Formats: sequence, C-alpha cells, structure tokens
Amino acid sequence: MSVSDFGGPGNAGAAPQRIASPERDLAIWWCPLERADDEMPALWATLSPAEIERAGRFGTDALRRRYVVGRSALRWTLAQALRVDAAAVPILRGPRGRPMLGGDRALDFNVTHTLGVALIAHLDRPGWRVGVDIEGVDRSLAHDGLARKFLTDRERAVIAALDDDARRLAFLRHWTCKEAMSKATGEGLSAPFREIGIDTSGGLAVAEGRDDYAPERWKLHPVGLGHGLIATAALWSPHAGDASRG
Ligand SMILES: CC(C)(COP(=O)(O)OP(=O)(O)OC[C@H]1O[C@@H](n2cnc3c(N)ncnc32)[C@H](O)[C@@H]1OP(=O)(O)O)[C@@H](O)C(=O)NCCC(=O)NCCS
Repeated sequence: MSVSDFGGPGNAGAAPQRIASPERDLAIWWCPLERADDEMPALWATLSPAEIERAGRFGTDALRRRYVVGRSALRWTLAQALRVDAAAVPILRGPRGRPMLGGDRALDFNVTHTLGVALIAHLDRPGWRVGVDIEGVDRSLAHDGLARKFLTDRERAVIAALDDDARRLAFLRHWTCKEAMSKATGEGLSAPFREIGIDTSGGLAVAEGRDDYAPERWKLHPVGLGHGLIATAALWSPHAGDASRG
C-alpha cells in the first residue's frame, strides 16, 4: 500500500495521524475507522489470508469494515518502519492472541480501538514491550462495582472522597493504565488487575505490583487525544530496574 492509499490528496483526514510521543523510540498514531466504499479494496488487499478469514467471521458489515481499516492502518504504519509493502509485514499471533512481528526486527507494537477510532503504538527498544488502551470519557459503567473488582484497596481509598462522576473518570484512567499493562505483557484480561496499584497523583506511575508487574519495570504515559477519549501507553522493560532509570 502506498502513502496515497491512506492519506493522499483530499483524503488526509482518514490517514493514521502521528501524534506527539513522550519518548523518542515510542511512535503513536490514531486513525478513524470509517472509510468510503471505493477505498476499501486497496485496504483489503493488504491483509493476510488469516486476516481475511477473520474479517469474514465478523457478524456485521460495520464491524468487518472497522477491522479491515484498523488492520490495514496498522500494516501501513509497520510497513513504513520496516520499509516493506504493507501486505508483506509479518504479523503473527503470539501467546493469548497478542499480535507481534515475525522476523528478527526488535520492534514491538500494540493496538486499541473504541468509538470508531484506533490507537497504534510502536516501541523500537529491544526486548521492551508496549501496550495501549483507549476509552471514551463518556462511557457509562458500574464503576463502583468494577473498582471493587479491579482496583487495589489503596486506589479505592484515594478516589473514595470524589463525587460520583469524578470516581467514574478516575476508574477509567486506572482502567486504561491496567489494561494497557495487560496488553504489554499479553496477559489481557487474565492479568492480576487487583494487585496492580497505579499512582495518578503526579503523572502516571505503577506504585504496586509483583513479578512482571513490579513498579520498576514500567513507564506509563497518558496519550492526549482530545475528542472525548482517554488513553494510556504502558512500556514494559524485560529487566527490572530499567524503567526507573530510563
Ligand atoms: C487483549 C484484550 C484485553 C483486548 O481488549 P479490548 O478492550 O476488547 O480491545 P482493544 O481494542 O483495547 O484491543 C484489541 C486489540 O488488542 C490486540 N490484542 C489481542 N489480544 C491481545 C493480547 N493478549 N495482548 C495484547 N494485545 C492483544 C489486538 O491487536 C486487538 O485488535 P484486533 O482484534 O483488531 O487484532 C482482550 O481481548 C483479552 O484479554 N484477550 C486475551 C484473550 C485470552 O487471554 N485468551 C486466552 C485463550 S487463547
């Protein structure tokens, strides 16, 4: 796929947009997932046979299109980093379905979607991993019940004095941090969310956690998107202590 397939003249709004990153080797894009009918064939053409099969399993056309646009956007960003065609990017399904690059390039990446947009992150730091999570700030949820399930006692004590809506927003921020971490490790929803403590008092930091979730392994960054979205990028170090020196 060429740059013009995603962002040519008259079409710039649909291209993955590179956004400011707090770290030199962390690259972040966001991308709307709605595209015109006549743009779809070029995007389908970048998918692997396994991705085409997966696209075929979505229950509605709208979900299928969003998947195709998101996956081709991911391929487009990786193609630029690897200097190959989008269709030639070797995306593998790792443990628990975590997408990873095949071959010997030490580039990690992760993707998250909500409300018709995708956020894509690449981390070009050997051995390290990145996870991202995005949520709509208006998302209505049973936040107090979810907080009992997914937040530590200390986190719940910190947000207890807030009013209901501020507690909902605080839960969402904690959730994007923990889900981004679970996506960096690849554990997804089996991660020990209730044992991971996040400190949101000055920037974002991991305050509690064991083994792969030990604080010294992590850097957390809020991703400023506006548009009613809240997102976090979590960077995991393979060596305990790296992140705090970093
Ligand atoms: C990863 C997970 C937390 C995603 O949560 P979500 O809020 O529904 O979705 P998001 O939009 O934030 O992220 C979805 C993207 O995460 C990526 N992803 C999928 N599995 C992943 C994993 N284990 N780790 C990291 N990222 C993963 C994919 O790129 C996916 O996008 P795609 O479906 O277009 O390929 C959730 O799907 C999960 O827990 N998966 C693990 C499943 C598992 O444990 N399976 C074990 C049996 S095989």
